[in-house]
Amino acid sequence: MKETQEELTYHVPVLLKESVDGMNICPNGTYVDVTFGGGGHSREILSRLEKDGRLLGFDQDEDAERNIVDDPRFIFVRSNFRYLHNFLRYHDIEKVDAILADLGVSSHHFDDSERGFSFRFDGALDMRMNKRAGLTAADVVNTYAEERLADIFYLYGELKNSRKLASVIVKARANGQIKTIGEFLEIIKPLFGREREKKELAKVFQALRIEVNQEMEALKEMLTAATEALKPGGRLVVITYHSLEDRMVKNIMKTGNVEGKTTQDFFGNLQTPFKLVNNKVIVPDEEEIERNPRSRSAKLRIAEKK
Ligand SMILES: C[S@@+](CC[C@H](N)C(=O)[O-])C[C@H]1O[C@@H](n2cnc3c(N)ncnc32)[C@H](O)[C@@H]1O
Repeated sequence: MKETQEELTYHVPVLLKESVDGMNICPNGTYVDVTFGGGGHSREILSRLEKDGRLLGFDQDEDAERNIVDDPRFIFVRSNFRYLHNFLRYHDIEKVDAILADLGVSSHHFDDSERGFSFRFDGALDMRMNKRAGLTAADVVNTYAEERLADIFYLYGELKNSRKLASVIVKARANGQIKTIGEFLEIIKPLFGREREKKELAKVFQALRIEVNQEMEALKEMLTAATEALKPGGRLVVITYHSLEDRMVKNIMKTGNVEGKTTQDFFGNLQTPFKLVNNKVIVPDEEEIERNPRSRSAKLRIAEKK
């Protein structure tokens, strides 16, 4: 499908054909894109629907509203996808044919210097996807206990020096609040060698972003609600960008719960609500990575409700 320049600068959709093919679209079915963003995936879904098809697009960021598609088959829901169940009920939808999630933040978030997602710009230490939400990255670094900060860097950023990092931050904030990205970088940069600096900073920022937006909690709730909402034969299609997300998605698709706890029936067969459509994770090819370097870490998994 053709895209305008504005949509492309907002966000270039990742694994577009592979993920929408994976939704197994019936022209008159009901679909959900829980991460509308620039609307690239939603437009592709709509192009495969006929008159009675329906698509709900969720995004918690009000900036995404500028990409809303003017189409009677489309409904935009400006909300966190953790409330999937409530909004399906609100719109009188009992079951759906497929749910697509393309997780994390969009290029728009990284490229907007005022949102605080990128260490390329100075500005407020913010990182909220939902600008009306309470907690900012500055709140996290200025108020969390040292141990909790260390856990966040370790769990969400997989940073080896998480304890040292937390200790340096706690020491620095005793001299005054850390309000901007510039101030924050000045405090943490000496901890990283020049060579790996960018990679390590990306991990620190990822960890803070996950905490600020409560991403793991929201993902867990959405995946659980999605499992309930799918019709038999319906598809769950998820693109992840880091190993924590991918583990949750893999677990729910294999076992029906994000922890990956297995249950067996009387005969020892694994009880699970899904059948895997792709056993091996789908990743972008070289051509896509070259065209869109942000697709590099993407992993696509598809499962079908039994
Ligand atoms: C990777 S982008 C999706 C891009 C989209 N597929 C496209 O083609 O343009 C992820 C989007 O999901 C939104 N998002 C992330 N987590 C969310 C959540 N828990 N609830 C609602 N929206 C969320 C972000 O604001 C962002 O716009």
